[in-house]
Amino acid sequence: MSLNNYYEEEDFEQQTRLNRNVLRRIISLARPHWRWVLGFLVLVTASTLFDSYFTYLSKRILDEGIIQQNTPVVIKLLTIYGGLIVIQASCVFGFIYLVGVLGERIRYDLRQQMFIHLQELSLSYYSRTPVGWIMARVTSDTERVAELITWGTLDATWGAMSLITSMIFMLIINWKLALIVFATLPILVYIGIEFRKRILSQFRMVRKLNSKITASFNENITGVRVVKALVRERENMREFSQLTGDMYATAFRAAWLSALFLPVVQLISALAVAIVLYLSGIQVNSGGMSVGGIHAFVSYITFMMWPIQDLARVFAEMQHAIASAERIFSLIDSHPDVADRSGAYDPGSIRGDIEFDHVTFYYDSDPPVLENFNLEVRRGETIALVGPTGGGKTTIVNLLCRFYEPKRGSIRIGGRDYRDFSLHSIQSRIGVVLQTPHLFSGTIRENLRYGRLNATDEEIETAAKLVGAHEFIMRFEKGYDEQVGEGGNLLSVGQKQLISLARAVLAKPEIFVMDEATSSVDTLTEALIQKGIAVLLKDCTSFIIAHRLSTIKRADRILVIENGKIAEMGTHADLLRQRGKYYQLYTRQFRHQMEQTLGAFDELSGMQPLSS
Ligand SMILES: Nc1ncnc2c1ncn2[C@@H]1O[C@H](COP(=O)(O)OP(=O)(O)OP(=O)(O)O)[C@@H](O)[C@H]1O
Ligand SMILES: [Mg+2]
Repeated sequence: MSLNNYYEEEDFEQQTRLNRNVLRRIISLARPHWRWVLGFLVLVTASTLFDSYFTYLSKRILDEGIIQQNTPVVIKLLTIYGGLIVIQASCVFGFIYLVGVLGERIRYDLRQQMFIHLQELSLSYYSRTPVGWIMARVTSDTERVAELITWGTLDATWGAMSLITSMIFMLIINWKLALIVFATLPILVYIGIEFRKRILSQFRMVRKLNSKITASFNENITGVRVVKALVRERENMREFSQLTGDMYATAFRAAWLSALFLPVVQLISALAVAIVLYLSGIQVNSGGMSVGGIHAFVSYITFMMWPIQDLARVFAEMQHAIASAERIFSLIDSHPDVADRSGAYDPGSIRGDIEFDHVTFYYDSDPPVLENFNLEVRRGETIALVGPTGGGKTTIVNLLCRFYEPKRGSIRIGGRDYRDFSLHSIQSRIGVVLQTPHLFSGTIRENLRYGRLNATDEEIETAAKLVGAHEFIMRFEKGYDEQVGEGGNLLSVGQKQLISLARAVLAKPEIFVMDEATSSVDTLTEALIQKGIAVLLKDCTSFIIAHRLSTIKRADRILVIENGKIAEMGTHADLLRQRGKYYQLYTRQFRHQMEQTLGAFDELSGMQPLSS
């Protein structure tokens, strides 16, 4: 799936059908914390009730106290007013506190769930899903869902309660006038909904464009070296300014509509107030409506209009949050492609012969990368895989490590289908070193210990010496306690390869896989590694992929893999004798190396290279 498709998935309108289910799941997120939810709902309701009652109280202070010039009543009512304000303030303190705590708990729950699930997902998920997409789920989506459950619920409760209590008090003060005001409500709701539709569709466009801009930024920054190397700056700039131009125009329309909405609502409220003032003015003259009553009525109208004005915003935020929740749930619900079968067990060891039996495998869709692939490897053998790019070497070891499973056929270890074993029992006994080694931020020592947490310092040093990493580590000021930086980027690629090699050695694997693991170290270091890991390889069944053929000369068997098939197989000497593909590859590399060496030699002596 392309990056763009992913971002278009953010279009929530198409998914609103699922809303009810999602809503139910969102509520279930809050369920474990129901005491906190109940607590803040009670407190919010109480403070809204107080708010409405204060307006009613001021009406009484005005009518019964001030206008009648009755000081004891004024003092009595003011005392009540003061007392209630203190209580209300405590309610406000309480619900803000509870909402804060509740939000944090929900964020914690969601992140925890996602993190655990992400660890379980198979590699195929990660090759399908952009990292940015996953990061957005963990960060901004989690935030939005937590906001919905806390401030969203709070806003909604507050709004509903303001509306209801204002209506009740208005009916108490003057029911006829109240009914006239209520008649304007449907108009307001209608206008609110119409505006919402239009504003939302603009904002949706803005968000889509925004995602595209973010993606473009992301790609250009992570790929900055390539951009510069290929002099793509001008081209990229043009694409980017097109995107930002569209974004500007859409955001402009959205802003215009949003700006128009509030004045329209205010105009209608003002109209309602005018009607009330006019009619009650007539009624005051006829003794039907007190001054305090009019004052309270006008206040209640604003109380009532506020939630309706806000309806559009709250609704839009709810939609956003529901869309966020859907994406989070889609992440949590995605099943790992590779998982333990029922009854999977730990065999205690995975030493034994390995057999690929008519294995057919493709990644996302046909055509298959491997078709009816057969290979038998004896316990302890060192197998080298060579051949052209895209031939299927990495795929073979991916299957062996059970990062993926065969679509048809089976892989047997010690005579048993490896799907009978638990994933952990296999993967914890396979040491894998990749071409692009990944280190975690921390010290060299911490990185080495990653695969075996209880390794002693001596064991760590022994492993580092075995692969020839000890020397360069000791050259660092802090030695093994030197920080490697994020992703290990304070080290050279070759140094990272050596550390990840030592890390794998330390974990005492039973099967050892090296995929271009030493491609970035110099030939001298590589020779040292060869000697070092020869000891390790003696006890292990191992698979070594290398483009540099000098690396694999000593392998028990060399396989030339081409288009997912074994094109040639044999020892180095056998294959050279056959004068086939391996022979060609080898002689070409050998000649190339000789030319380089001679070229360097000629430059040193100031002569033209012989081979030009
Ligand atoms: N994650 C993936 N998703 C889809 N297709 C993939 C994936 N990884 C590899 N392929 C495809 O599978 C085929 C074999 O790739 P593989 O990585 O096994 O080749 P390789 O022999 O290791 O090549 P190289 O020497 O360049 O590392 C290629 O055609 C490639 O396009
Ligand atoms: Mg490869």
